[in-house]
Amino acid sequence: MVPSKLHALFCLCSCFTLVRPFDWQDLNPVTHIKSSGSMTTPANWNAPLRTGERYPLIIFSHGLGAFRTIYSAIGIDLASHGFIVAAVEHRDGSASATYYFNDQAAADTANKTWLYLKTLKREEEILERNKQVRQRAKECSEALNLILDIDHGKPVKNLLDLEFDVEQLKDSINRNEIAIIGHSFGGGTVIQALSGDQRFRCGIALDAWMIPLGDEVYSRIPQPLFFINSERFQFPANIAKMKKCYLPGKERKMITIRGSVHQNFADFTFATGKITGHIFRLQGDIDSYVAIDLTNKASLAFLQKHLGLHKDFDQWDYLIEGDDVNLIPGTNINTTNQHLILQNSTE
Ligand SMILES: *[C@@H]1O[C@H](CO)[C@@H](O)[C@H](O)[C@H]1NC(C)=O
Ligand SMILES: *[C@@H]1O[C@H](CO)[C@@H](O)[C@H](O)[C@H]1NC(C)=O
Repeated sequence: MVPSKLHALFCLCSCFTLVRPFDWQDLNPVTHIKSSGSMTTPANWNAPLRTGERYPLIIFSHGLGAFRTIYSAIGIDLASHGFIVAAVEHRDGSASATYYFNDQAAADTANKTWLYLKTLKREEEILERNKQVRQRAKECSEALNLILDIDHGKPVKNLLDLEFDVEQLKDSINRNEIAIIGHSFGGGTVIQALSGDQRFRCGIALDAWMIPLGDEVYSRIPQPLFFINSERFQFPANIAKMKKCYLPGKERKMITIRGSVHQNFADFTFATGKITGHIFRLQGDIDSYVAIDLTNKASLAFLQKHLGLHKDFDQWDYLIEGDDVNLIPGTNINTTNQHLILQNSTE
């Protein structure tokens, strides 16, 4: 056990039976292939917070069809480096399944109201996804409000079935060191949240899905922003939108992890053996542990730089530039034609 390891606000297991990240029942019989993945996490359940110090805070936003506990490989690693990580679970209909209590009586009797993944009709997509990303950003700000209230010592009742005493978090947050990270739809949420909430000092968008964002956000992001992409997921229209965030005087970085797939950022990538992982596109050609290590170290270096931390994460500064055999600086996607399309559409 590492005594300094912080408790991350994750609760693994309890959601696992409710997971519907993909339509498992639609998959063909190859599901019977034996899995040889890892199902453990290097964390100490309900460990007390090491108090007497203020920590930087990360709000983490999950992807479409995902949920708050499925990014433990990122959250636990950041927590072990001295961050408090709050993984939200969105109620915009984009979580696989989540619940809330309708009122105080429902909370007292643990009468949960479940909210499942909403499927959209094709013609609803543009409008609804934009509504969702704006709700998601608001939820990230609300999570931040709540944590800062707890930090101030405001009494808060924890309705989750956890023995972790949230009162430990009083005077634990460094208010000048707050960042937001998210994957996929959560990556788009990072950009939306940065544009509306200046308390987030910088953002890291992991294989961001940019399509839900409205055109107005791109010019409203003064904070530093880091795109960490997979090689297989990205496509010209999406990368073109990332490039719209590149404005003079604004700090923007982008790297692509060679041989990686979209699911390399979520815990599913570790849960299966190689063959099953490839079939369900949970794993790419790169070793999943190597990929997550690059993601986490590059993120730590970026966070140190832009939150002004006094740590040794600058030893990984070269990763921010994509200077590694497993990284591509910038992107593998050619957006030449996209710029023409964008130009034509605005002319
Ligand atoms: C649980 O809450 C729902 C409304 O949200 C209500 O209809 C139902 O009766 C409640 N169940 C119990 C056992 O109280
Ligand atoms: C990108 O695409 C354009 C147009 O299709 C092409 O002319 C150009 O050579 C490509 N660039 C690279 C680096 O492949």
